[in-house]
Amino acid sequence: MQPRTPPDTVAESFSQLLFGALTFRAYAAAVRLGIPDAVGDTSHRADELAAVLGADEHRLRRLLRALVALGVLRHTDDGRFALTAAGAGLRADDPTGTRGLVAFFGHPLMWRTFGALERSVREGTPAFTAVTGRGFFEYFAEDPSFAQSYHEGLHWGTEMTAPLIGMSRDWSDSRRIHDIGGGDGALLTALLAAHPYAHGIVQDSAEALEGLPANIRRHGVDGRCSAVPGDFLTEVPAGGDTYLLKNVLHEWGDDDCVRILGNCRTAMAEGARVLIVATLLPEPGPADGDQEAFTYAVLSDLLLMSASHGERTLAEYERLCAAAGLRITRVSPVPHLPNDNVIEAVAA
Ligand SMILES: C[S@@+](CC[C@H](N)C(=O)[O-])C[C@H]1O[C@@H](n2cnc3c(N)ncnc32)[C@H](O)[C@@H]1O
Repeated sequence: MQPRTPPDTVAESFSQLLFGALTFRAYAAAVRLGIPDAVGDTSHRADELAAVLGADEHRLRRLLRALVALGVLRHTDDGRFALTAAGAGLRADDPTGTRGLVAFFGHPLMWRTFGALERSVREGTPAFTAVTGRGFFEYFAEDPSFAQSYHEGLHWGTEMTAPLIGMSRDWSDSRRIHDIGGGDGALLTALLAAHPYAHGIVQDSAEALEGLPANIRRHGVDGRCSAVPGDFLTEVPAGGDTYLLKNVLHEWGDDDCVRILGNCRTAMAEGARVLIVATLLPEPGPADGDQEAFTYAVLSDLLLMSASHGERTLAEYERLCAAAGLRITRVSPVPHLPNDNVIEAVAA
């Protein structure tokens, strides 16, 4: 990967910075207004789309024109708008689920959250809490549609990375896999499909688990995967030989992480392991590795810091594991994903 070349001055790249934010807003507005689905397989005039979407025709026309410039839409010869191949990927029926990802990160509350970064740094609280007065997951009960948007958005990333996580280690000794905070089971059902001898459990909130039956059907793992609604801060299902924690600990402070890891330690069968799938921050100091991976890790940290906690270094994960009676034995990079690692820990 090429190192990122910084511009000589911020002014030189200012329009790139500003228009980058507006580009994402245009995508988010398109998806949240339902433009890709309204356009569908045919082509439409702006006034037709305005009528269908209940939008202001003049302003919609200007957004449609920007979406043409961004490659989401194209003009047809008779002046109508049609989807490009990239735009078709934003439809609700597109199998990648990209629409959900864009809709969640473009949710007005997420943008108010990102807008509170300065306040968060000043006051030492997560930006989301500064904006809502609630913890991230605590807020879900108040706004189920926000919670649903979060779960839909996350599904996409996990769906794409599950096969690569599957390639990162030998799973032959994993027969009872418990995915803790496993969302809608996108990762576990993919792993079970690749390993027909294994069974698994997904623990998460009842609303997150609503998506599990569809994933079980899609991956053909009926009878081998079950849902256990519950709170991992209280306890996790006992008897697994493999406890997965993918993108879970970065949403919690140290004390809560020690509780979650400790609950896994208590529930683990003899000889079992905990697999923490996480982005690792480089140790403090000048980064001498892959510049792009470094940028991803620290921006991912800002994203997490806005919502809840943040990414950690390997030394920080070692300390959390030690406090929970676990010892890290191996760190395996996930192939093709320079920022993702599987951190393997066993009883200390
Ligand atoms: C970032 S998501 C990761 C989901 C999944 N592991 C993945 O990577 O796709 C964090 C998950 O933790 C779940 N979660 C949050 N608090 C929880 C709790 N107290 N008990 C169980 N699950 C919880 C959320 O509902 C969410 O699905």
